[in-house]
Formats: sequence, C-alpha cells, structure tokens
Amino acid sequence: MTVKNLKDLLAEGVDGRYVLVRSDFNVPLNENREITDAGRIKASLPTLKALTEGGAKVIVMAHLGRPKGEVNEKYSLAPVAAALSEELGQYVALAADVVGEDAHERANGLTEGDVLLLENVRFDPRETSKDEAERGEFADQLVALAPGGAFVSDGFGVVHRAQTSVYDVAKRLPHYAGGLVEKEINVLQKVAEAPAKPYVVVLGGSKVSDKLGVIEALAPKTDALIIGGGMCYTFLAAQGYDVQKSLLQEEMIDTCKDLLARYGDSIVLPVDLVAASEFAPDAEKKIVGLDGIPEGWMSLDIGPESVAKFAETLATAKTVFWNGPMGVFEMEAFADGTRGVAQAIIDATAKGCFSVVGGGDSAASVRVLGLDEDGFSHISTGGGASLEFLEGKELPGVAILQ
Ligand code: 3PG
Repeated sequence: MTVKNLKDLLAEGVDGRYVLVRSDFNVPLNENREITDAGRIKASLPTLKALTEGGAKVIVMAHLGRPKGEVNEKYSLAPVAAALSEELGQYVALAADVVGEDAHERANGLTEGDVLLLENVRFDPRETSKDEAERGEFADQLVALAPGGAFVSDGFGVVHRAQTSVYDVAKRLPHYAGGLVEKEINVLQKVAEAPAKPYVVVLGGSKVSDKLGVIEALAPKTDALIIGGGMCYTFLAAQGYDVQKSLLQEEMIDTCKDLLARYGDSIVLPVDLVAASEFAPDAEKKIVGLDGIPEGWMSLDIGPESVAKFAETLATAKTVFWNGPMGVFEMEAFADGTRGVAQAIIDATAKGCFSVVGGGDSAASVRVLGLDEDGFSHISTGGGASLEFLEGKELPGVAILQ
C-alpha cells in the first residue's frame, strides 16, 4: 500500500495531538449484553497503545450492530468501553453521545495518553447516509472534536463501507493506515495475488447469495472449494436431495446448479449430515446420509465422514482461506463439523500451509470452541471486508487512504 502508516504518524510526533481512530468494535454480545468474543477489541490494542504511549489524545469512533440511525441502548458501546479499559489497562471514558455536548466536553478534557470512546456512530443517521453532503456535515462535526488532529483508520472489518467515520473523515484530516488495517491488507494480498498451491477455500455460513461474488471470483483460482454450513443445503437441493427443513434459499437453486455445472470439479460438498428434530441445543439428533434427513427434521451440521473428506483435501493444501462455520457451532451438539474442519486447517498449518480465517463467525468459532488461535497463520477481523477484498472489489476505506 502506498499510504502513510502509523509509523509515519508516530515519527511525525503525536505528543499532545488529537488522533481520531476508527476501530471495529462490532463484537458479539449475549442476551445479558456480555461480550462473547473480544477478538476485535484485542486486535485494536497495538495501534491504540502505540498512540497513547506516544502521548496522543485518542478519540475512538466505532459502531455496534445496525441501530438504523437511532439512539438505542441495546446498541450502546458501554460493554465495549468497559472491556477496552480492562484490555488497555487504563480507563476509557465513553461519551454519552457522538458529536454532542458530552463528546465535546470530554474531548476538550483529554490529556496526553488519554482515550475517549464516542458512543455508537450509527446512532447518527448521517453515518450511513447515501447523501454525501449529509455525511460531510457529520464528518465536519467529528473532526471538530479533534482540532489539529490526524485520522488513523484501524477498523479493518468496516473498510468495505463508505461511511462517514471510515471514509469522509479520512478526506478531511491527514490520514494514516493503522497497524491492523496494514497487517490485514498485507496478508490478504498474499492470498489474493500469489497463493501457494494447492489453494483450498472453505466456505460456510447461512446464505449462498452472500457468497456468490466470492464463489465466482475464487472458484477459477482454487484447487478445491469446500462448501459446508447453512449454504450447502441449497447446493444439495440443486443436486436433487430433499433437505427437508434445513436452511434453503429456493430462489438460488438454479444458480447453484449453474455453479455446479461450471465449477463442479473443484466444489467439494458434504457426504453426510447431522440431522436434528428441531432447532434447539437439546434436539434429538442423528447422523444421516444426504438423502436420509427424516421428514420434518433439519440438518444443523456436517457429519463425521464429511469432516474426514474435507480434512483429506485440506491435508495437502499450501494455502487455505476459511470463511463461515460448518454448522450451528453455538450449540455444542452441532459444533463438531466446525471444530473438525478448523482442526484440519490447524494441522495443515503445522505442516507449512498458510492459513487465513476470514471474519466474523468463523473467527469467533475458533475462540468460542477453544481452538488454538496460534494454530492459524492469521485470523482476520473482517468478515465482509475480507471477502470483498478477495473478490477484488475496491474497499472505500482503504482507497481513500491511498
Ligand atoms: C462486520 O461486523 O462485518 C463489520 O463490523 C461491518 O458491519 P456491518 O456489516 O453492519 O456494516
């Protein structure tokens, strides 16, 4: 990347200077609003620490969920501020608003090395507005919190969004790629441009439609494209299997037939499934063949023979990109498929394969299932962002830094 980075900013000096940082703190929460995977918060620490150690007055902008431009306590960044304080080992104040009185008072009161987190930027409808003038007005108000400041883009997970705090703020301030954005881009570039062969991509997650672009872009480049998780049932339906009540995108069946016709040689599908009587952690379950899902039941995971088949393909891989769990890993009864495939990737990595876990759910599954995070070459903080990068799409939040 021909962009200025954090090192450049630190060399210019940040002591006493305001630095607006965009981080991605869109972390999963349980029903008690406790963070279930703090991976994204942990990944933000090196950049934030470098800035506080340099004496910057740090103001962090972030979003949580999709509150649709309205203040909604459910999406408050309060749990993030508490977790960030703990992880950073210093108090991180949370402003009660985004660009209001409280944000201004707190920003004015910052001293060298302090960190202030603004409330969820998506509480303001202008953050995600399609109208450039509206976003521009909001960007001016964010910039006004940091007179004489600089902008550090460190929320890799959100660089595929042309939103105010990612894109328009960068236009208005001297801007720098944070350590996380730089690291993520370097790793993904390696996978996109010159993957060592055999190159195996593992895709899961619920919707075929979300992954169409990436399938089209990657299928011609990969040696094997393993498909599991919720999206595999539409492929199995395209092959004529009755998937009963399993997740199905009926309108995508023809598309899947077409993909199978064109890339059937490289697409690898499950050979057995874990059928469940209902969508519940304690549902009755059975390992079945592809045509054996009992009437009215649904499949919630891939079966052990599928894990073995996928593992065999992964064993010889020299590059692996994995996005999307193989089943409903949040329920222990349906976590074996995801665990087995993740372990196969870890084993391949130990033999010299370069492995990247792309994004949200798959990254969370690694930690939630207690797998060895260090067993992978890289765990990305970007779900949509890493997929769009591999699809070859321009990422607005990166383009604007260039
Ligand atoms: C993510 O979780 O992928 C990022 O934080 C972006 O969130 P979004 O899909 O709501 O824009």
